[in-house]
Amino acid sequence: MLLQKMARFFSSDIGIDLGTANCLVYMKDKGIVLSEPSVVARVEGTKEIVAVGLKAKEMLGRTPRNIKAVRPMKYGVIADYDITEAMLRHFIHAAKKMLPPRKRLIRPRVLIAVPSGITSVERRAVQDTADRAGAGDIFLIDEPVASAVGVGLPVSDPTGSMIVDIGGGTTEVAVLSLSGIVTKHSLRIGGDEMDAAICQAVKRNHNLGIGPRMAEDLKVEIGSAYPQDNEDQIFMIASGREQISNTPKKVKVTAREIREALDGPVRNIVEAVNSTFEHCPEEIAGDLLDRGIMLAGGGSMLRGLDRRISEATGLPVFLADDPLNAVANGTGIILQDVDRMAKAMALAVE
Ligand SMILES: Nc1ncnc2c1ncn2[C@@H]1O[C@H](COP(=O)(O)OP(=O)(O)OP(=O)(O)O)[C@@H](O)[C@H]1O
Ligand SMILES: [Mg+2]
Repeated sequence: MLLQKMARFFSSDIGIDLGTANCLVYMKDKGIVLSEPSVVARVEGTKEIVAVGLKAKEMLGRTPRNIKAVRPMKYGVIADYDITEAMLRHFIHAAKKMLPPRKRLIRPRVLIAVPSGITSVERRAVQDTADRAGAGDIFLIDEPVASAVGVGLPVSDPTGSMIVDIGGGTTEVAVLSLSGIVTKHSLRIGGDEMDAAICQAVKRNHNLGIGPRMAEDLKVEIGSAYPQDNEDQIFMIASGREQISNTPKKVKVTAREIREALDGPVRNIVEAVNSTFEHCPEEIAGDLLDRGIMLAGGGSMLRGLDRRISEATGLPVFLADDPLNAVANGTGIILQDVDRMAKAMALAVE
């Protein structure tokens, strides 16, 4: 009865991965219909929206004085309510346009993935913001649960599975069994922290101030969590502003420098995985020895992170096939298959 009600509830509805770096929308029966950076550009004063998503991200740090491009989410939670609301409204409207006209009149019901470590006040803020942005009934699901479902881990089986989802603002480590979270660790460390560590290292080593986009490029192009062969020969040219003379300057930055800069945040992630494993009941720890750890989220694509985690834990580590889409795909599977996922939802959705 309840399941039928839930199934009706979710017909033609949407799942949202409201991420610090990227916002994805999954529409039932259609799949991921939207995937954009969580960035909004607005005119200062009038608050008129100039761009949302990729167009706005390209403006970050490059806008004229009267326009401001901002990332309204930090550490997985809302840092600026008005701008998050404007962004969500934009994405919900864009998704609604893909529905047949008769369904556009109804506010869509949404399932939103949120970090498992957020407070009840922060949860409320997500619900209120989504409500103001045009959502109908709003359900929240823990991001690591959605991620685990999205990468196809057998979360409802009576066996332990570990997911580590490394996003822009958060790292979620969770062990799941029988559709519930057995133990978890939610860290406010992710890709943004790595980018900040790179900015600091380039400033320290070269007296060069670089922006977060340059730092992200360095991380993606030559960054690693594990020493690579010839890492002194692998390099990238970074451009920025010389700190003393304040003039534009370009320097050669090596892969070794970036790996060393990333060591702090990487170490924090490895420690969180280790401590989550240590807190597992023996039976589950045994399952994990066989089944290993699954990595997802954009940060999991950092070169050598799988090897680093594997060496530190002694467990096999696997990379998700589609790490950036894991959470959104998970919300989609839950929307699509309410019956099978009902147990997971009853435990993780509120
Ligand atoms: N090849 C790569 N190597 C390292 N990091 C990467 C790579 N590709 C993307 N990233 C990083 O992944 C992060 C974005 O991942 P993702 O979209 O999963 O985050 P999010 O879900 O928006 O954030 P959160 O879950 O923390 O709210 C960014 O910090 C980005 O720089
Ligand atoms: Mg995420």
